[in-house]
Formats: sequence, structure tokens, C-alpha cells
Amino acid sequence: MLYLLDTANLESIRKAYDLYPMNGVTTNPTIISKEKRNFLDILKDIRKIIGVESMLHVQVISTNAEKMVEEAEYLNQVIGGNLYIKIPVIHEGIKAMKILKNKGIKITATAIFTAQQALMAAKAGAEFVAPYVNRIDNISGNGIGVVTEILQLFEHYNLDSKVLAASFKNVQQVHLVSLAGAHSVTVNPEILDKMLEHPLTDWSVNQFINDWTKVYGKDTLTINVK
Ligand code: G3P
Repeated sequence: MLYLLDTANLESIRKAYDLYPMNGVTTNPTIISKEKRNFLDILKDIRKIIGVESMLHVQVISTNAEKMVEEAEYLNQVIGGNLYIKIPVIHEGIKAMKILKNKGIKITATAIFTAQQALMAAKAGAEFVAPYVNRIDNISGNGIGVVTEILQLFEHYNLDSKVLAASFKNVQQVHLVSLAGAHSVTVNPEILDKMLEHPLTDWSVNQFINDWTKVYGKDTLTINVK
């Protein structure tokens, strides 16, 4: 399982990379525009925080294949590092994926709502496909079901593409795609924190500290270490 953070907020990225075993950051045009700063400055700052080896997924804006390729090459040049270009699974997007694959640029197919979209993107050369779990659930679909079908198709046709499950609104959705065998998830900072939280964990830790300090006086083992 690879953990990615779905945000362009620098403070959240710093915190997640400090605390958790992170593998990358994903953005989209909505996420970047929330920061209300020059988008290149934001992406360069993210790269500085996560380093060149961590995955950074950045989406194109154009809806025409040639322009998507132009944007992808530009991003590859100015941001660099372990970069994945997110391309929506529209008709022109599939064409752009084929061109970018030939150029050796890594692709994440995005805005996926059906398993057939994911299959076509994988055939076109996408390294990752990003099904939108909660947005599928919100149209009375079955987000987990779509992820499961994509995994079945990739196995059935022996495709190397990986599932980067996205669009989560709760921890249970993340848990169910993990059980289904999704290779990676991208979650917002709030859900990432919630994936660890349990009141009984906090209760247990507090009890350990209380019992310890009653006898040893300090809430640390290294009382005498200078
Ligand atoms: O980045 C794409 C996806 O994660 C969108 O999520 O929460 O806007 O549905 P959301």
C-alpha cells in the first residue's frame, strides 16, 4: 500500500511527511486553486518538502491532446523529480496518454468513474489509474465495487498499471479499498489523521503514563539521560 496526500497545502504536507510513511502528493486544479498562489511556486515548494524521489502527481488543464502533451512536457521540465502527469480519461486524454507514454513521461489517468475507463487508460500506458470512490458513491454507484472490478481486469489481462484510489470522505472507504487490494490511496489530511485515531488507544496511552509517573515521577524513560 502506498499512501499519498491529496492536497497542495504546504503545512499539511510538512506535517504528514514528518509523522507518516508517505509515498507522495497528489493535486488537481481545484486543490491547487484553493491555495490562491502562483501554481508553479506551490508545486516547486511541494517538491522541496517531499524531495525528488517522492511521487508528485499534477494534472493538466487542457482538453486537447496536443495541448495536454505540451503542458505535461512543461511540468516535467519545470517541476521534475518523480513526477506523474494526471490526464482525465476523456477521448483526447487517451490520445495524450499514448503520446506521453512514447515520450517516457509517467501518467496517472484521472477522473475515473468506471472500470472500462481504467482499462482503456491502462492500455494507453497509464502507470496509475485514479477511480473517484466517494464521487461514485455519491451518484448511487459503488466506489469500492469499481475499484474491485479494475483490480480484476488488471489481473485478468496481466496489465502492470496500478490503482490509485482517490476521492474519500471517510476511513471506512479507505479500509474497504485496502481490503480489495488497491495498490495505493490518496487521502486528504483530515482522513489521513483519522485513519489512526481511536479513543481507546488514547485512553490506554494515558493510563500507561499515569501508572508510570505514579512510581517513577516523570513521563519518560530517559530521566537520567543527558
Ligand atoms: O484528486 C482527485 C480526487 O481525490 C478528488 O477528490 O474529494 O474532490 O472528490 P474529491
